[in-house]
Amino acid sequence: MKYKACIFDLDGVIVDTAVYHYKAWKRLANEMGFDFTEHQNEQLKGVSRMASLELILGWGQVTGATEAEKEEMATRKNLWYTDMINQMTPDEILSGAREFVQACRDAGIKTAIGSASKNTPIILAKLQLTQLFDAIVDGNSVSKAKPNPEVFLKGAEALGVSPADCVVFEDAVAGIEAALNAGMKAVGIGTPKMLTEADVVVSGLDKFTLEMLEEL
Ligand code: G6P
Ligand code: MG
Repeated sequence: MKYKACIFDLDGVIVDTAVYHYKAWKRLANEMGFDFTEHQNEQLKGVSRMASLELILGWGQVTGATEAEKEEMATRKNLWYTDMINQMTPDEILSGAREFVQACRDAGIKTAIGSASKNTPIILAKLQLTQLFDAIVDGNSVSKAKPNPEVFLKGAEALGVSPADCVVFEDAVAGIEAALNAGMKAVGIGTPKMLTEADVVVSGLDKFTLEMLEEL
């Protein structure tokens, strides 16, 4: 095989958690007396928890919150979010995701998760996917957010492969940038209009094959 490893973003690639993030952030915003749209929520994809909060507070023109207050808000949101995440079942794995990761493994290609989410371990457990990955790098082990390449470079390191031998699967613009900044190929999950920098874009892992990986 041309590539030795595939590194997958979690939210939006393996599972659609954006809807749960949206519900929980919306509840927080509503409690503070404002609202934001699903369209605005698009801008939160791939963005860390605290950076998401900053964007939302900006939309609501909430100023002057202390760091401690912001921490409390993020914790409150995360409790609502994890309540929903805890109800997730393997049915929610996006179409073709499990099959493609398994196909990689069967072909001798290493697999890793590279996600900004601190909830990665619980989500993978609920989806019964933990065993499918040789390495898991998430928001608990990185300090620099995408588009910084740290999460993917750590993934390559954990797998013992060089960045040039890795392909990243990402649904967020910042994630595609992070992959390219790491010196890796980037497969966009979404639309070519949004993910203009990706080497190739497909609507989901059900539309991607090992043959397409070889052609990158
Ligand atoms: C992913 C999602 C973001 C989320 C971030 C942190 O990148 O796309 O929407 O804000 O993870 O998630 P967490 O579970 O740590 O709050
Ligand atoms: Mg994502």
